[in-house]
Amino acid sequence: MSFWTQEEFRILARLREGFLKGSAGLADYWKGAEELSLYDRTFAQRIGWKWDAVLSELSVRGWMPPAQRLVDWGCGTGIASRRVLEHWQGHFEAVTLSDRSPQARAFAFERLREAGATRNVRVVAPEETDCEGAVVLASHVLSELTHEQLRKALGQWKKAAALIWVESATHDNARRMVAEGREFFLEAGWKAVAPCTFSGACPLLRGENERHWCHHFARVPSEVHQDQGWREISLRLNLDLRVLPYSFVVLERDSGREPVSGVSRVIGTAREFKGHLKVLACDAGGVQDWMLQKRDAPDLYKELRKCEGLPLYRWRVEGGRIVEGVGKWV
Ligand SMILES: C[S@@+](CC[C@H](N)C(=O)[O-])C[C@H]1O[C@@H](n2cnc3c(N)ncnc32)[C@H](O)[C@@H]1O
Repeated sequence: MSFWTQEEFRILARLREGFLKGSAGLADYWKGAEELSLYDRTFAQRIGWKWDAVLSELSVRGWMPPAQRLVDWGCGTGIASRRVLEHWQGHFEAVTLSDRSPQARAFAFERLREAGATRNVRVVAPEETDCEGAVVLASHVLSELTHEQLRKALGQWKKAAALIWVESATHDNARRMVAEGREFFLEAGWKAVAPCTFSGACPLLRGENERHWCHHFARVPSEVHQDQGWREISLRLNLDLRVLPYSFVVLERDSGREPVSGVSRVIGTAREFKGHLKVLACDAGGVQDWMLQKRDAPDLYKELRKCEGLPLYRWRVEGGRIVEGVGKWV
């Protein structure tokens, strides 16, 4: 017997098609609380695992949100704000849930209530959203925004104290987030917190790096692979549960943090060839596709191959080859 009904599969397939084709932005697509609940138990869970990776990185880097008010912009079912409230328990005093869909706003409010947080929770329409001095969350909303809608959103977000923005890691989406988002904030004097190790122009946007895009991989909880419901979703919707790529930027207006120079962030994962890895690494100097031979640094080789830990390293490079990497930098 199937875990999901045929109707549930139809809804999930319709939603996914809209997200992948980029047609979801045309009109409010939520058709009621049951549909929102289905999204919340499936696609939103995967988004939650991406948020777990981002929040864990922020904590490893020693970053704390610089404000006590949270705005979840384009909140959908509110997975981003629930994850953030759980991660920094007791930190936030007020939450604003904002979405063009009144049904989504109401659903997200109800889920926050069930999670025990109703004090100072407001639901508002996007045009009424006050981001002044807040920590703004944006999650998987970019592909639904036209150029003009994004411009308006950026105008609101620019009043915030910080922005945590997580997106699906397609080439176009990830590059758009950087080109139209990250660079907009840096020009306004904001500082990059993550994944970047510097606040200058993104080297991936240079012509020679056009084929690359900034993305990373989140951990899928192991129990998911034993779960009948997830197995069926994977088969019916052709959804690969083994990998979970994501893109993100975290930026803040007034940063008291001292930039640390000479540190690189690995993009994606190290690619394995016979006896060596290729490591695409980004830092203030640009993007380099370094080679790492197993015999030069066996422990580092193992660490990078297994994607262990936060991929931030200070390299020692000789003749185009990495010969040492000091990692776990914060
Ligand atoms: C794919 S869902 C993501 C929801 C949630 N942020 C998450 O990560 O699960 C995109 C959400 O953006 C909302 N949205 C789309 N266009 C919008 C706009 N112009 N203004 C505000 N919200 C919008 C949709 O209603 C939907 O709830």
